[in-house]
Amino acid sequence: MCGIIGFTGTSQAADILINGLQSLEYRGYDSAGIALVQDDQTKVIKTTGKVAELRDKVAATEGTHGTCGIGHTRWATHGGVTTVNAHPHQTPKVTLIHNGIIENYKEVAADLAKKGYTPVSETDTEIAALLIDSLYEGDPFDALKKADDILEGAYGFCVMFKDRPGTIYCMRNASPLVATHTEDGSYIGSDVVALIPYSKDYFVVPEHHIVVLEKDAITLYTMDEKEVEPKMLHVDWDTTAAQKGGYDYFMQKEIYDQPEAVANTIMPRIHNGKVDFSADHISDDLFKDINRVIITACGTAMHAGLVGRSIIESLIRIPVTVEIASEFRYMNPIMDEHTLVIVITQSGETADSLAALRLANERGAKTMSIVNVKGSSIARESDYVLYTHAGPEIAVASTKAFTVQCCGMYLITMKLAEINGILNDEEIASYLDKFVEATKTIGPVLEMDEYIKTIAYKIKDTYSAFYLGRGLDYAVACEGSLKLKEISYVNSEAYNAGELKHGTISLVTEGVPIIAVATQDHIFSKTVANVEEVKARGAHVIFITDEDVSGYDGLYDDLIQVPKTDDFFAGFGVTVAMQLLAYHTTVYRGYNVDQPRNLAKSVTVE
Ligand code: G6P
Repeated sequence: MCGIIGFTGTSQAADILINGLQSLEYRGYDSAGIALVQDDQTKVIKTTGKVAELRDKVAATEGTHGTCGIGHTRWATHGGVTTVNAHPHQTPKVTLIHNGIIENYKEVAADLAKKGYTPVSETDTEIAALLIDSLYEGDPFDALKKADDILEGAYGFCVMFKDRPGTIYCMRNASPLVATHTEDGSYIGSDVVALIPYSKDYFVVPEHHIVVLEKDAITLYTMDEKEVEPKMLHVDWDTTAAQKGGYDYFMQKEIYDQPEAVANTIMPRIHNGKVDFSADHISDDLFKDINRVIITACGTAMHAGLVGRSIIESLIRIPVTVEIASEFRYMNPIMDEHTLVIVITQSGETADSLAALRLANERGAKTMSIVNVKGSSIARESDYVLYTHAGPEIAVASTKAFTVQCCGMYLITMKLAEINGILNDEEIASYLDKFVEATKTIGPVLEMDEYIKTIAYKIKDTYSAFYLGRGLDYAVACEGSLKLKEISYVNSEAYNAGELKHGTISLVTEGVPIIAVATQDHIFSKTVANVEEVKARGAHVIFITDEDVSGYDGLYDDLIQVPKTDDFFAGFGVTVAMQLLAYHTTVYRGYNVDQPRNLAKSVTVE
């Protein structure tokens, strides 16, 4: 949700800023802008639209020199998508970019109006810029500290003061900021992907601290101007991991990344027939004395939670609820020290998921998170973190992050089974073998790409589609449906197969695609019966299964036969098939797969 980049050093800043924004564009693509410090002025260039448009505008602008600057790509919250609302915002004393939402901006604006400050844009960000301008009397620390006390909401700011050319001051509350320093200068960004071309070593700017970027040094301070040592982190991702690598879209590449991402996530954690979390420093105590599990997350990550519920309840026999994080925090949830709260998140920064975690921590629950981004807020604030190793996920629609989150849920379930004596050693080893085997079905499903593309062609013109499944199949059907809906704009919903007839079947007319998932032996015939019901009403049935379907010829129009696995681990091949279906349908429909309208990848506002 908004991408931020800043640089001061010896190289020309414009290219660094624009390249950084390009890599952060998944965070928002309504408008983009940069500000460059030049001799006696700070030049701002901004435009509505994508970073490519900004790049063209910068190329067509005279005099874009400067070795210090800031850049921003916007996901609009307050104020429409206009150039004047685009960042950076400039006042007489400061130039500023912001990621987040200033919740009390109206009150702050009213106070500023009394002092004669009038904004030119409709944004909360410009109010923050004016506030800092009004508080600045030559001491950046003093102005930023006062602003930090006054402002409410989420913010990551990069501020350049007119009378301090070459220096960038940054601070944050909730919204992420990471920083690094190299021989060339100092860098700041809202995500480590923007820094990897320059350094793999970086630090997360702690909340309510000020980081000062200068050509020769980067220094972290408390709000009281005491210098503190930043805690350095290292990322293994290389620049190619954040590039398309010959694929047409990031989403396509990320679908194909899955065998490796899954292996990286699970193989280091399986030793001698057991799940080994010792390298993650996850104590066995976490899994003892639990009488309840709550999984909370947003979007795709929430669907991984549905998979988690299905497997934990069926094997461990403790109640599991899956709560949408934006609801959980407001529903006064019941938790105590015997509750295990698991937060699932790719970015580790989703505002609602972070708030849900904080609530769980406050209420004394045991907390753990499944996170892809190292050092992110949710990773830092959970009692324990299980990192997934998907590498950077750039496409807004999540693919590889989902499969590795499911892997995380399986690893946790196996650990729960071991610690609580649900399975003996031999059984656990056998489950883990089947788990690894099941993940290996992803490769053969990727080989069905061209075939799945032919099915996508048949449904490309549809207005709506429905996904059906029961139990675990329903959990993965939810994710399949979200994939199609969010990128292709097909009006798609997932239903528990037996529930469709209680209302929604009235929407099933001739040719409407029904994507039915049936991998679970014990309910296969039940799902088949539901598919018969929609087939009888003229639906175009795409049947995805790992079962033997000989004898079911009239049941479906198209069959996606994924390799057979143990039922408990059956979602992997199906998920990948549905990702490919959504991908190709979207390409046929002519939309930008990686940047669907109105969405952003990292939602750091409520
Ligand atoms: C956004 C993204 C989704 C993602 C969700 C949760 O809505 O578009 O793809 O699943 O946020 O993000 P998280 O980083 O917490 O997994």
